[in-house]
Amino acid sequence: MYQYIINGGQPLFGEVTISGAKNAAVAIIPAALMVDGVCRIENIPQISDVTLLYTILAGLGAKVTEIDDHTVEIDSRSITSTEAVDPLVCKIRASYYLIGALLGRFGEATVAMPGGCNFGVRPIDQHVKGFKALGAAVDEDECVHAQAIGPNRRLAGANIYLDVVSVGATMNVMMAAAMAKGTTVIENCAKEPHIVDLANFLNSMGADIKGAGTDTIKIRGVDRLTGGTYCIIPDQIEAGTYMTAVAATGGQLLIKNVIPKHMDCISVKLMEMGVYVEEMDDTLLVRRTGALRPTNVKTQPYPGFPTDMQPQIAAVLALAQGRSTVTEAVWSNRFRYIDELKKLGAQVEVDDRRATIDGVEKFHGAHVQACDLRAGAAMVVAGLAAEGTTQISQVQFIERGYEDIINKLRSVGADISIVHIPDEPLPPESVG
Ligand code: EPU
Repeated sequence: MYQYIINGGQPLFGEVTISGAKNAAVAIIPAALMVDGVCRIENIPQISDVTLLYTILAGLGAKVTEIDDHTVEIDSRSITSTEAVDPLVCKIRASYYLIGALLGRFGEATVAMPGGCNFGVRPIDQHVKGFKALGAAVDEDECVHAQAIGPNRRLAGANIYLDVVSVGATMNVMMAAAMAKGTTVIENCAKEPHIVDLANFLNSMGADIKGAGTDTIKIRGVDRLTGGTYCIIPDQIEAGTYMTAVAATGGQLLIKNVIPKHMDCISVKLMEMGVYVEEMDDTLLVRRTGALRPTNVKTQPYPGFPTDMQPQIAAVLALAQGRSTVTEAVWSNRFRYIDELKKLGAQVEVDDRRATIDGVEKFHGAHVQACDLRAGAAMVVAGLAAEGTTQISQVQFIERGYEDIINKLRSVGADISIVHIPDEPLPPESVG
């Protein structure tokens, strides 16, 4: 196992370039299974979730060729199986996109599902509701078995109202409907940037999807998706994490390769806290020189404040001058990391879905765990600001979603390194 060692308390200065969006990539790679041709995908982040998906796709018979660090060609003309039951499938939550992709193209899918969960109940009832509305029979045991029951094993377009605003259900049902016979209308959709990105990817392969990024998505099913080239959007959450890092440490970062519009929900909160944020084309200048002001944050589906930035902003608020609150409205249990933050000196009380944070003047180094991906990112943000040495264990969670975080941070002045710890116990599975 590995640990990050951070000697913190230094401001960050310099430039960071943001990688492709993890939560777009983990949907678009499975969606490549629907393409009867070769698709070239650019700006793929080099993270462990992506590597794992390549292995899963190859196991189904796809030819996966890494052209360079950030470009892959996936040829799904030779798919030999619609059963994704390898234990690897259970390691990431995004494996549920294999259901929509395989069911959409082949009319059947058997996909193993993650067993545990790390921040509350993570049902897939809305995904299943959508598949059933499109004419699939769906059974769940340790796998999800879905099969189109209509003529020629083809799904049929339908009107679907999602009872919960769900990123995964919106994308999964969109995939399944892309090759259904007739028109599908999905209402009460999630509107995250990666939903628009998946729709753009599918459209560039020949799908007919309109309205992604709004509450209502309309999909005219097509017979076939053919190959093409697609470039993934920058990662909103990675960019936001570097914004919170400089907010916590002080200093100035130029954060390059972002879509500033996607960052507004994060920028406004940081500006309320006294952080200077300036948008310039595809770059953000973020500077913090004075004291941090407290504020209140409530997570919401996009365009609200993202739940995947909740731990990182809490780490910054814990250094503000006064009392802040953070309300988690998406997940039922996403405050497990607070006990770790307290080890660094944070003063926080959690009551169900609300954390009340009384800012402290400084953090001090300590040994903390990365409980999951974004919790781990928050430990990095806090460790960079903490005086003394912070050790972060279970960093494989962080590497699921942050490309080359060590070198990116070092290049802006952070004293951070990774060390091998032979005897550290294995952590529980993470399924983020
Ligand atoms: N929900 C249901 N039924 C469903 C699906 C979801 O009740 O069928 C509920 C969930 O329990 C939750 C809420 O709806 O309370 C939102 O869940 P959503 O489906 O939007 O989450 P997800 O698709 O499983 C993705 C990201 C998460 C991110 C959430 C919310 C991926 C692989 N994961 O999860 O990202 O927190 O959307 O934005 O895209 C991360 O990157 O660290 C991460 C956990």
